[in-house]
Amino acid sequence: MLPKLDQLIVEFDKGVRTLLAPAHSRRPHPDQDIPDCELSDAERKHAARLMRINHCGEVCAQALYQGQALTARDPANQHAFTEAAFEEIEHLAWTERRIHELGGRTSLLNPLWYTGSLAIGITAGLLGDKWNLGFLSETEQQVARHLEEHLQKLPEHDQKSQAILAQMKTDELHHAEQADEHGAAPLPAPVKALMKLSSKVMTRSSYWL
Ligand SMILES: [Fe+2]
Ligand SMILES: [Fe+2]
Repeated sequence: MLPKLDQLIVEFDKGVRTLLAPAHSRRPHPDQDIPDCELSDAERKHAARLMRINHCGEVCAQALYQGQALTARDPANQHAFTEAAFEEIEHLAWTERRIHELGGRTSLLNPLWYTGSLAIGITAGLLGDKWNLGFLSETEQQVARHLEEHLQKLPEHDQKSQAILAQMKTDELHHAEQADEHGAAPLPAPVKALMKLSSKVMTRSSYWL
């Protein structure tokens, strides 16, 4: 199902805001009660770069959910993912604020990854709801695994960043479950491998840029 013009305008507006405007969180930030700790310059830089990767991942999530919303055939599916999309905006807000606290900046490549993810999301959506949901479920599972890796890589005493990533991981696994409950089809192995490869390119490049 091709998206209607008014839907396209709404989603275009969301895209511009994702890339340019600060995101807001309805839930309290997971690190808000945790005091900041002393980090060396190297640790701070490393943590800011890891959080930049996660922020970039959330920009991609915005685009994927927009692609899903634009193409979902079943209105129940569209509705089910409104809540998940809200949580992705919160993830954007949490990572963005933490990057700035650590003295870092968001990725210069965000517009590129946003556009690519939107194209992928729309393509997956046009293949039909079960493939669209399969793609979302696999993405969320890969993101959760990647967050677990980052939880190991962050400086141990950076409890603030750890708290943010831990809550994000819980949310992403829930999003995957939701997609599965709505009838996600398991993706063929080569597609999963390709997704892993492209996420590797994204993580490597946004660590530096
Ligand atoms: Fe997320
Ligand atoms: Fe998610």
